[in-house]
Amino acid sequence: MKPVRKAVFPVAGLGTRSLPATKVMPKEMLTIVDRPLIQYAVEEAREAGIEQMIFVTGRGKGALEDHFDIAYELEATMKARGKSLEPLEATRFPPGAVVSVRQQEPLGLGHAVWCARDVVGDEPFAVLLPDDLMVGRPGCLAQMVEAYNKVGGNIVCAQDVAPERTASYGIITPGARDGRLTEVKGLVEKPKPEEAPSTLGVVGRYILQPEIMEILGNIGKGAGGEIQLTDGMAALIGTQPFHGLTFDGDRHDCGDRTGFVIANLALGLARDDVGPAVRAYLADL
Ligand code: UTP
Repeated sequence: MKPVRKAVFPVAGLGTRSLPATKVMPKEMLTIVDRPLIQYAVEEAREAGIEQMIFVTGRGKGALEDHFDIAYELEATMKARGKSLEPLEATRFPPGAVVSVRQQEPLGLGHAVWCARDVVGDEPFAVLLPDDLMVGRPGCLAQMVEAYNKVGGNIVCAQDVAPERTASYGIITPGARDGRLTEVKGLVEKPKPEEAPSTLGVVGRYILQPEIMEILGNIGKGAGGEIQLTDGMAALIGTQPFHGLTFDGDRHDCGDRTGFVIANLALGLARDDVGPAVRAYLADL
C-alpha cells in the first residue's frame, strides 16, 4: 500500500457567502485568532505526514502562495529590531514542498481536484478544504491516515448532520460499521431531507486513490452545474474499498458566517494567551 504523501488544497472558490470580506482577499486567508484558515489546514496535513502541499488556486489568490514564501523585507526588519521570527516558523517549507496549479474557471470542487492530476501522479493523496476547520488531537487528517494504513482505499471524513441540512452535504449510503469506520455503499450530492439515504455527511477531508482523476476528467457537470467530487467518488465505490471515518473532534464551517464567528470564539477560548480575557468578557456579557 502506497503511503499518503501529497495533499491537494482546492482554494479557487469565489467565497461568495463570506462577502464582502472575500471581495479581494481569498476566503482561505480569513483569520481565526492569529492565523489564516489555510495555515490550520497545512499544519494539519504536516502533522499527518504529508510532504507536498498542492494548492489549486485561481485569480486573486496570490496571498495564499505568498503566505508560505519567505518574506525577506519583513524578516530583515524584524531581525534588525531584535524581534523573534518564531510566529513565522509554521509558514516555512523547503523549496518544492508547496506548489500551485491553477484552476482557470471555478467549475466545481471535482474540477479543482482534477486540475492537480499531473502533480499528484500515480499515488494516493489527501484533499483538505481549508474552510472546514477541524480541531482534534491527533488532527483530523492524522486520524484518517491511521485508518487508511489499516483499510487502504478511499476514506472520507464523515459527520452526522442535522436531518434538515442534508441538502448542504454529500450524503453517505452506509454499509457495515466498525467503530468510527463506516463502509460507504453510495454517495449522493446534496439530497433533500426526504431523499437522503442517511444523515451521515461528507465533510472537507478526503484520502483518495489516483484512479479518481480519470473519472473526474470524464464525468461532466452534476448538481449546481458544477463538476462534483462526490460524483467522481461515487463512481469509485464498488471498484475499491471506500469508508467514512467519523472524526473524533470538532468541525467549524468557516465558509459560513456563523461558523466563522464560533470558530474564533472556540479557538480563542482554548488558547492560553487570549483565552482568559475572552472568557472573562463572555462571562460579563
Ligand atoms: P464552496 O462550496 O465553499 O464554494 O467550495 P466557494 O466558492 O469557496 O464559497 P461560496 O459557497 O461561494 O461562499 C468548497 C471548496 O472547494 C473549493 C473552494 O475554494 C473551497 O475550498 N472550490 C470550489 C474550488 O477550488 N473550485 C471550485 O470551482 C469550487
